[in-house]
Amino acid sequence: MYEVLEVKSHIRNYSVLFADSFRESLGKDTQEKRCFFIIDRSIDRIYHEQLRDVLHPGSCFVVDATEEHKSLDYVKAVIKWLLGSDIKRNDRLIALGGGIIQDIAGFVSSILFRGIEWFFYPTTLLAQCDSCIGSKTSLNVGEFKNQLGTYYPPQHIVLDVNFLKTLSTADTRSGLGEIIKVHLLDGPDSLEYIRSEYDHSADPDTLKELIFRSLRIKKTIIEEDEFDKDRRNILNYGHTFGHAIESVTDYKVSHGQAVTVGMDIENYVSFRLQILPQGSLDLMRVPIMKNYPDFQLEEEHIAPLLAALSKDKKNVDENLTVILTRGAGEMIKMKLPLNDRLKEYINDYRKTT
Ligand SMILES: NC(=O)c1ccc[n+]([C@@H]2O[C@H](COP(=O)([O-])OP(=O)(O)OC[C@H]3O[C@@H](n4cnc5c(N)ncnc54)[C@H](O)[C@@H]3O)[C@@H](O)[C@H]2O)c1
Repeated sequence: MYEVLEVKSHIRNYSVLFADSFRESLGKDTQEKRCFFIIDRSIDRIYHEQLRDVLHPGSCFVVDATEEHKSLDYVKAVIKWLLGSDIKRNDRLIALGGGIIQDIAGFVSSILFRGIEWFFYPTTLLAQCDSCIGSKTSLNVGEFKNQLGTYYPPQHIVLDVNFLKTLSTADTRSGLGEIIKVHLLDGPDSLEYIRSEYDHSADPDTLKELIFRSLRIKKTIIEEDEFDKDRRNILNYGHTFGHAIESVTDYKVSHGQAVTVGMDIENYVSFRLQILPQGSLDLMRVPIMKNYPDFQLEEEHIAPLLAALSKDKKNVDENLTVILTRGAGEMIKMKLPLNDRLKEYINDYRKTT
């Protein structure tokens, strides 16, 4: 049974608890010591009644989950509120929300008193299946995304899949994109698993299993390379083209869906470079298409896509750094010149969508 997953970290080891009732866990966590809360406004609204008796007046900071709030200015306001509320270094911060709340709460926890205890209750699929482990906290600087940050995992993560019932379709598919990604990274068995189980992901037990499997795959990667020096780079699979898709669609496409298309393009480029056989390309495409059946890359997207690629922060010299593949479980980090040949591949890819 998968009740608890233990993650090893250079900062501290920590645990992910699969709970049937987040409310019960929260009751226990708040009895152990004084707690302060950072809560997503959607969660505060949906669970107002259930949270009423655990959240003491004045102990709760409610946050609108926007990228603008992942900033130093906003973090300063949160810290001012905590200090004004007389937080002490042995108190506990509890965050309830998705990746945005995680980044704000994690960053605050890592710098306040040079590090205070924090617990995380992820409420989006992306946060449950992916971002909750891995230790990273990230803030934006203006339009420069995730350029500031620390490594500071929560002491404890409580994961209740019941939260996911109220998520929008776009946010659900965003999380499913990251689930597909780690299954393709893992190998042929995991590719087979996601190929057959994707269609059942609306079932809470199947989703719980998919989340557990995704965290277990990510755990082996981050335990080997927590500080992203080498092996962890493969988690960027789909992200070079994914970020460019987000940028040209003005972030109307959710992150995980952009990564879904990004993986498809990176696979297609691998195929054209004769690294990936046609059969593997087609097989890997099955779960990808399920997660973004209506995606269409338009001709007018090509030039802005190339411009966005040329600004990717992973670029070295004139080369694009990208994760290509020989098949499920066989990823390779490569540098690709942004030249006419690559343009031709992207254009040909467009005709396949
Ligand atoms: N630190 C990391 O390791 C890491 C990793 C991946 C992504 N991120 C960051 O995570 C952010 C994206 O996070 P996300 O995709 O989890 O979403 P999010 O935090 O942006 O939230 C998305 C929307 O869902 C709402 N919401 C949250 N929980 C809900 C629920 N249970 N029911 C209904 N609505 C709910 C929020 O209010 C918001 O409107 C990005 O800023 C990204 O950079 C961080």
